[in-house]
Amino acid sequence: MTKTATLALGGPAQDYAVLEGSIGPDVLDIRKLYARTGAFTFDPGFTSTAACESGITYIDGDQGVLLHRGYSIEDLARDSSFMEVAYLLTEGELPTHEELATFKYTISRHTMVHEQLMQFFRGFRRDAHPMAIMCGVVGALSAFYHDSTDIDDPKQRMIASHRLIAKMPTIAALAYKYSIGQPFIYPDNSLSYTGNFLRMTFAVPAEPYVVNPVVERALDRIFILHADHEQNASTSTVRLAGSSGANPFACIAAGIACLWGPAHGGANEAALNMLREIGTPDKIPHYIARAKDKDDSFRLMGFGHRVYKNYDPRATVMQQTVREVFKEMNVTDPIFDVALQLEEMALNDPYFIEKKLFPNVDFYSGIILSAIGFPTSMFTALFALARTVGWVAQWNEMIGDPEQKIGRPRQLYTGAPQRPFVPLDKR
Ligand code: SDX
Repeated sequence: MTKTATLALGGPAQDYAVLEGSIGPDVLDIRKLYARTGAFTFDPGFTSTAACESGITYIDGDQGVLLHRGYSIEDLARDSSFMEVAYLLTEGELPTHEELATFKYTISRHTMVHEQLMQFFRGFRRDAHPMAIMCGVVGALSAFYHDSTDIDDPKQRMIASHRLIAKMPTIAALAYKYSIGQPFIYPDNSLSYTGNFLRMTFAVPAEPYVVNPVVERALDRIFILHADHEQNASTSTVRLAGSSGANPFACIAAGIACLWGPAHGGANEAALNMLREIGTPDKIPHYIARAKDKDDSFRLMGFGHRVYKNYDPRATVMQQTVREVFKEMNVTDPIFDVALQLEEMALNDPYFIEKKLFPNVDFYSGIILSAIGFPTSMFTALFALARTVGWVAQWNEMIGDPEQKIGRPRQLYTGAPQRPFVPLDKR
């Protein structure tokens, strides 16, 4: 028996189907609303809107639950690798040993970029933000891979997906090397996905480079925590771009552009810059007061979330990882103490409790990435590297959805009604 909701809007009451998911909130199917009533729904930030059907990631913001294909982020962060999670998100199931070995081999076959693409970097200023470079270079991949842009061919979609997953670390490392004036380091496929990225980023031709296994594991876990997150702003951007039939490289470039914003993926860079600005624990009350001041646009970066109103399970894993990395690298960065005391004070402040503002994934990630040696300007590029796995999984799901059509929202028009044109000499 289909559940229904009845709505009377300027005419006879009509029933609308209520659709149930496997878990989580029901949805009201309003696809016939405009045809029946001539009215649109109004939901500018999509706070109450399900834009699609998906089986990839589930979030319960009140319970602090994050599942990828049904597996909890805590279990995946503890017991799996980023390549296993990449397989899980793109293929739908955890891989067997053989499936994982084949997947890793396939990805390793695409880690290099076209030699002419390497020339693109030399057109940027050395101080260009890595995200500006990522937007440009990832979009330019479509100029090199015409053989995997036919979105109606599942084989080409998967090749493009593998190319993107494989090349993001290379492109991110190239952007970093270019920004510090060091020579580019080619991939070494004898290393793990994450180890390869660490070597491309931090190795120099003048001396051997050995991947630190603790850092490799910590960064691999950070990639897992950032892999996918339901219909966040950048994933929705990728889906909307893909709904027009745009090629996958252009769609991922659009996702990178959206992720760059400080309210989204740019928050990890902003959060570390904020902690550095605070500097010492005695300054924390001043900044908390600023965050609460309606007349001050300052926000505590790394706090708050549209969905999580309890805590961000990724932040909990991230905090544990900070301790591991700091111990291994013998780091005593005072901003970790500032972060812990800021979190403690904010979580006991009525303003943050009432507005349900908790540390999110971006609050701690910057501290770890800084301890590993990444400059703050690289933080969002690393977020984009990891989130590419989720973006390609969501893009493939959208393209494969028989119900999908071009995304084309409407509006509440509050501009001028039609009026006669006034010639220039009469204005
Ligand atoms: C990510 O969607 C995703 O899943 C994103 C992400 C992912 O994995 O893809 O999880 C990654 O983007 C995490 C969020 C990173 N951004 C930040 O840390 C930036 C700081 N946080 C915010 O700007 C804010 O909390 C958002 C953008 C994250 C969420 O904004 P909402 O849900 O639109 O909530 P809101 O802006 O309407 O805020 C609700 C209230 C407001 O007060 P009132 O106007 O109701 O009085 O809370 C206040 C806000 O002023 N508020 C904050 C605050 N965040 C919200 N006040 C102080 N500090 C903050 N950080």
